Amino acid sequence: MNKDFLNYDNIAPQYNQRYPDSQNWERGQALLELAKRIQAETILEVGSGTGYWLNLLGQTTDRLFGLDFSMGMIEQAKQQSAPLKLMRGTALDLPLRNATFDLLYCVDAIHHFGNHRAFLREALRLLKPGGVLAVIGHDPHDEGLSRWYIYDYFDTVYDTDLRRYPSGNSLLQMMKTEGFINPSAQVVEQIQNIHVGEAVLKDPFLKHNATSQLALLDEKTYQSGLGRIHQALAAARERGEHITFRSEILVKMFLAYKP
Ligand SMILES: C[S@@+](CC[C@H](N)C(=O)[O-])C[C@H]1O[C@@H](n2cnc3c(N)ncnc32)[C@H](O)[C@@H]1O
Repeated sequence: MNKDFLNYDNIAPQYNQRYPDSQNWERGQALLELAKRIQAETILEVGSGTGYWLNLLGQTTDRLFGLDFSMGMIEQAKQQSAPLKLMRGTALDLPLRNATFDLLYCVDAIHHFGNHRAFLREALRLLKPGGVLAVIGHDPHDEGLSRWYIYDYFDTVYDTDLRRYPSGNSLLQMMKTEGFINPSAQVVEQIQNIHVGEAVLKDPFLKHNATSQLALLDEKTYQSGLGRIHQALAAARERGEHITFRSEILVKMFLAYKP
């Protein structure tokens, strides 16, 4: 088990709060367009969580498979309306036959897998010739392009993310060396949430269990980060100023093909 492992069972019942009906997710549109473009009939999401993206792909096919480590997340995914075939397992040893899928993808999950290369190898094995791998998520290594206030206030979070996530360039390189062809990257979504002053305290992503970044922190480290935000707010109040807390994050889709 890698040291950054997080069991999503405790997070599962609240997880779908991050997907309010009112929001149209551009990464979902990108995934849908990809599935349509390559006419994917058989699709696997690794780290499928509550099945939100698989359910969206229900518009294109009913051969939708989801694999996740957390039984709690799988239980939530069973409630989606699309007929999902769900299984428990790990991304590094996928219990499925060679050359089965037209599209294999993960969203906000590769940083949990511990061994990126081992996952890519499994993905290559499971894809049919000409099949597509899509890795969707943010890249904390793209310094200057993304900005997330959580990294500024909570100890260890940024360093942990640098360790957990592959950089975009290293992912493209790994795809090549593991045998994929034509690797490419594109920005598919720009998250832009700006909280001014005290409003930051209502940010749902500031809750301890809302993201793996904060959920990995023990209570003491989490509270001390929260304390730093309160201190900064108090100091700004005294100066008669407002602090702007930025969550401006580029979400990318990394694509590669099985020869
Ligand atoms: C941030 S959630 C993303 C869920 C879903 N892809 C989404 O975008 O809503 C990460 C998911 O990866 C799963 N996960 C973590 N490590 C895993 C592993 N080694 N193998 C399979 N799934 C894993 C977690 O249980 C969790 O459901």
